[in-house]
Order: sequence, then C-alpha cells, then structure tokens
Amino acid sequence: MSKFSLRGRTALVTGGARGCGLAFARGLAEAGANVAVFDVVSPDDAFYAIEKDCGVRTAFYEVDISSQESLEGGFTKFQQDFDNALDICVPCAGINRHLPFLEFTYKDHQDLLSINVMGLYFTAQLAAKQMIANKTTHGSIILVASMASHIAVRSQLCSAYCGTKGAVRAMCPAIAKELAEYFPHLLEGWKTEAMNGRIADPEDIMGACVFLASDASSYMTGSDIVVDGGVTRW
Ligand SMILES: NC(=O)c1ccc[n+]([C@@H]2O[C@H](COP(=O)([O-])OP(=O)(O)OC[C@H]3O[C@@H](n4cnc5c(N)ncnc54)[C@H](O)[C@@H]3O)[C@@H](O)[C@H]2O)c1
Repeated sequence: MSKFSLRGRTALVTGGARGCGLAFARGLAEAGANVAVFDVVSPDDAFYAIEKDCGVRTAFYEVDISSQESLEGGFTKFQQDFDNALDICVPCAGINRHLPFLEFTYKDHQDLLSINVMGLYFTAQLAAKQMIANKTTHGSIILVASMASHIAVRSQLCSAYCGTKGAVRAMCPAIAKELAEYFPHLLEGWKTEAMNGRIADPEDIMGACVFLASDASSYMTGSDIVVDGGVTRW
C-alpha cells in the first residue's frame, strides 16, 4: 500500500471546513499528508480532531475563494506557515442555489460562477504556481466537479449549478495539458500519445485496482475509472 502513502506531503483543501471537503482533508491526513484548509466558515469539530488522530499538521485559514484579494492573501499566509510546501490541492469549495431556471437572477448566477468556476480556477492556478516554484515531484490538483456536469439532478433545482460543474470538467484536460511540461519526472517514452508524456508502468494502475476492490469505493457502481495518462482527454 506504499503507493497510497502521502507521508511528508502537504495538501490544501478549499471548502474543507465541513462536508465533502472535510472528508477529503481527513482522507489525505489519514494517508499521512499535512493539510491546510481554506473556508469562509469555521471548521467542524471533526477538523480539529485530524491533527491528533492522524499525527499530521493542520491549519485553517478564513479565505473567500471568490475574492482575488482574499484568495491571494490566503496563499501568502499558507506559504509562510508551511515554508512554501504544497504537493496536493483539492479545490472543493462550491455552492448551489435551489432556484427554478425561470427565476434565476444575474446576481444568483454570478455568485455560483465566482465560487464554482472562477474561485476553483484561480485556486488551481495559484496552487500550480506554488508547486512549480517549490519543484515538487508529487504535484496533484484534484478538481471537484459533480454528476451534475453530466445530468440534471432529479431532486434538485440546479440549472446554473450544472453549468458551473460542466465548466470544471471542461477546463480539467486543458489545465492538465498545460501543466504536464512542469513535471519532467513524467516525461519518458510515449510522449506523443499520453498527456502525461510516458507509458504506464503496471504499478500505475495498481492503485485503481485496490481502490475498486476495497470498501473505499463502496459508493461506486456501474461506472469506470480511466487511468490512461490522459490519452483519452487529449
Ligand atoms: N454533496 C454532494 O452530494 C456533492 C456531489 C458532487 C459534488 N459536490 C461538490 O463538492 C463540493 C462540496 O460540497 P458539499 O456538499 O460538501 O457542500 P458543503 O456546503 O457542505 O461544503 C462546501 C464548503 O465550501 C465552503 N465555501 C462556500 N463558499 C466558499 C467560498 N467563497 N470560499 C471558501 N469556501 C467556501 C462552505 O463554507 C463549505 O464549508 C462542492 O464543490 C460541490 O459542488 C458535492
């Protein structure tokens, strides 16, 4: 299971004060990563238990990711506190407004775009800049979209939300393509076919196999995981 270890790595999770973001923060910490969280609300008690339970360092920063000033200020403080370390970024903060399509206002839609699209995009951009500067060889940026980027969610009013999550999914391959050159440890072999710039080793697909076989994937069914170095996203 050593491939799953994140010991010694540093992660940043936005929207990590509660919900899915908090679960991501906890999971990353259980795998050994130090975890910083950006959020506009104070974290649940469960966040404060992570440090002791997992033996890692945690920190919370009050940051509004929809504000350029707040986001950049949060990154500056985080960089100072963690000596510029950053290997993993999970831009997870996101909102929905449960309003009918016919009643949605410009302001409602703007709020969703500024958090779910612009906030996520610039969190990823600032994280990428930091990872390039600190020369990590373990850089991962994990954008949080939703099934709502594929379908209308029956139980929710989500016309604008679906659009923002579609934007997240659409930007992901293009960001991956542009960042591939900054991870030279990946640039071997099958360079023209794989976005990652190398042919997979058997160990590269081992993790997905163990994940699918384990209780960690118990909420997945009838879907697939594509572990292909970005070939089908190119
Ligand atoms: N819950 C689900 O079923 C589900 C499914 C698919 C995708 N998602 C996505 O997962 C993410 C988290 O969803 P959740 O259900 O845990 O929601 P949640 O409301 O429980 O958590 C979202 C967190 O983001 C924070 N946040 C909101 N605006 C922010 C801002 N401007 N700056 C910083 N933090 C901000 C909130 O304070 C909150 O802590 C969202 O992007 C959502 O679209 C959730």
